[in-house]
Amino acid sequence: MKTELIVALDNMTEITARSFVEKSASCGVNWFKIGLELYSATGPAFVKELKQKGYNVFLDLKLHDIPNTVEKASRVIAGLGVDLLTIHCTGGVDMMKGALVGAQGSSTSIIGVTALTSLGDHDLGLLGEVFAFNDQSKPRPARKRTVARLYQAALEVGLRGIVCSPDDLATLPRINPSGFCFVTPGIRPTFADRNDQQSVATPAAAVKAGATHLVVGRPITAPPSGMSSEDAIKKILEEMATAGN
Ligand code: C5P
Repeated sequence: MKTELIVALDNMTEITARSFVEKSASCGVNWFKIGLELYSATGPAFVKELKQKGYNVFLDLKLHDIPNTVEKASRVIAGLGVDLLTIHCTGGVDMMKGALVGAQGSSTSIIGVTALTSLGDHDLGLLGEVFAFNDQSKPRPARKRTVARLYQAALEVGLRGIVCSPDDLATLPRINPSGFCFVTPGIRPTFADRNDQQSVATPAAAVKAGATHLVVGRPITAPPSGMSSEDAIKKILEEMATAGN
């Protein structure tokens, strides 16, 4: 499976997002991530616009609600033609199943968010991790344990992939059925700033580690001075190619 480059359309207006889509497409990119911020501003209209233009859309809304609500939202979103839709695995097995039922018969793949990289051990403890799953025979940091367990749950329920950090990619057991997606943010080519990302990998390292989709925002949308967004995309695609992509 060829690794896809997804440009994250964050921190921008609809007009700027449209211009980034055009610039990216001129370099061969046809995957775009619309997150909570842009979706809140533009609603389904911008998703429909990208789909009508033939692009692939990763709608990163991270749904988390009761199963009935998530099923219905998933059905509406699948009707927009979205390609990847995120839900929180911590919403539980019935909620994950609800999302799958909602998207049934559509081309939308439901992707699970395991543990947000922003959660520390204290937060995971608040979620019950420490008490319910502190298996002393396999001491591992709470986050890694949580990610591994939710990955397993996502597989069992039949989700089509998970969002995972470069660090998760390196440590998760590869028990995935073929076609399972590892959607990986935290990508930093050597020319880019790390920004607020805690766990980063270069495009080549992430491809080699088995990422199926690289989500890249600021290295492309806010490249270092003297470099255009198009230059940044070309460098990233070249680097992915050197890793066998
Ligand atoms: O600008 P940057 O390349 O850091 O953007 C990464 C994208 O991936 C952002 O849209 C961000 O919301 C998303 N993301 C992330 N880290 C996670 C999950 C999602 O950076 N753990």
